[in-house]
Amino acid sequence: MLNLAIIGTGRYGVNIIHAFKQLEYQNIAKLVSICDINEDVLNSHCKKYKVKGYTDYRKMLDSEDIDAVAIATPDHLHKEPCIYAAKSGRHIFVQKPMDITVEGCLEILEEANKSNVLIQVDFHKRYDPYHQQLCKDVKSGKFGTIEYGYVHMEDRIEVPSKWFSSWAHKSSPVWFLGVHFIDLVRWCLGSNGKSAYATGYKMKLKKMGIDTYDSVSAKVIFENGVSVTFDVSWILPENFEAIVNQSIRFVGTEGIIECDTQDRGTRLCSTEKGMETYNIGFILETKDVSGRTVYKGYGIESIMDFVYNLIYIKNGGDFETLRKNSIAAFGEDGLEVTRIAVAIHESLQKDEPVSIR
Ligand SMILES: NC(=O)c1ccc[n+]([C@@H]2O[C@H](COP(=O)([O-])OP(=O)(O)OC[C@H]3O[C@@H](n4cnc5c(N)ncnc54)[C@H](O)[C@@H]3O)[C@@H](O)[C@H]2O)c1
Repeated sequence: MLNLAIIGTGRYGVNIIHAFKQLEYQNIAKLVSICDINEDVLNSHCKKYKVKGYTDYRKMLDSEDIDAVAIATPDHLHKEPCIYAAKSGRHIFVQKPMDITVEGCLEILEEANKSNVLIQVDFHKRYDPYHQQLCKDVKSGKFGTIEYGYVHMEDRIEVPSKWFSSWAHKSSPVWFLGVHFIDLVRWCLGSNGKSAYATGYKMKLKKMGIDTYDSVSAKVIFENGVSVTFDVSWILPENFEAIVNQSIRFVGTEGIIECDTQDRGTRLCSTEKGMETYNIGFILETKDVSGRTVYKGYGIESIMDFVYNLIYIKNGGDFETLRKNSIAAFGEDGLEVTRIAVAIHESLQKDEPVSIR
């Protein structure tokens, strides 16, 4: 039985609570404690999920018997808890992005390597079965040599303006959304970024008092020569039919593949909510045979996979084989994604192409 904890139990941390609780139902792991600096949030979760709570993650990690910790603090606040957890010998599951600086990622990796702990980054796009098939097809050479690709990922405006308006200015549509597909493209192409050129707008959100980009359009050239355009934004109208609009495509010498990961074919319209499309492949609420609420989908699978990977390690498996065979993104992937995202932001500042270092 693995003992687990969570740091940051806001909107996304709740999904981690759900996934860890399900592993508890299966006697695989136990959610020992959670930590959040917001006492109201913390107390309500502690009561609902019958788990011990802390407002200081250092105190929690110093006093609890925990094997691993999931970190779901805001984008710019992953580094410190990651380093503290690594130093204390805890395996780490960190939300994307691993950190918003290359130096921060390198520091986290160094501490994780020193303590010999696993660090897995939650790039859950890899767990979507449509993406898995897409990557398999691209890697198989079915489309010949890939020449270029295109990605868009767009959120409705309530995400930066209501969900986390207190820290949206510390993030961007690249950090919050783009990194998901940057990771997926890297994974499919088996290649790291070489250079980036990006343009962006600070307009609508800035007028609302949130100083961050509305949208960014970035062209990234990968080391294997493939050029991929990433269009990301978080200003879609609140009445758009889904919280997120997204797709990916590649074109090669022998073919093309396109995957619309927003509209998967189920559309509905009700008087109450207007037009909607379901994203139930991501997270679907359902019941188990005991009548307990459980969740399915690639968003939950990627969290559970971290625990399965830990079990593999606990049973004598080695990191090298795990990295070779697992579909998960590890610390090195987190670093390479951050290198690309940092170069995109640097290009936005300089208004010129930037080499990825
Ligand atoms: N994998 C995904 O698809 C996905 C989706 C949404 C968000 N996220 C990521 O999850 C992270 C959290 O996003 P969110 O939407 O849940 O934000 P949120 O603002 O709803 O939650 C963040 C929580 O962290 C807490 N917190 C801040 N500093 C803390 C500290 N030092 N110790 C303990 N708790 C602390 C806050 O009080 C808050 O409750 C972000 O990095 C975000 O990018 C991932």
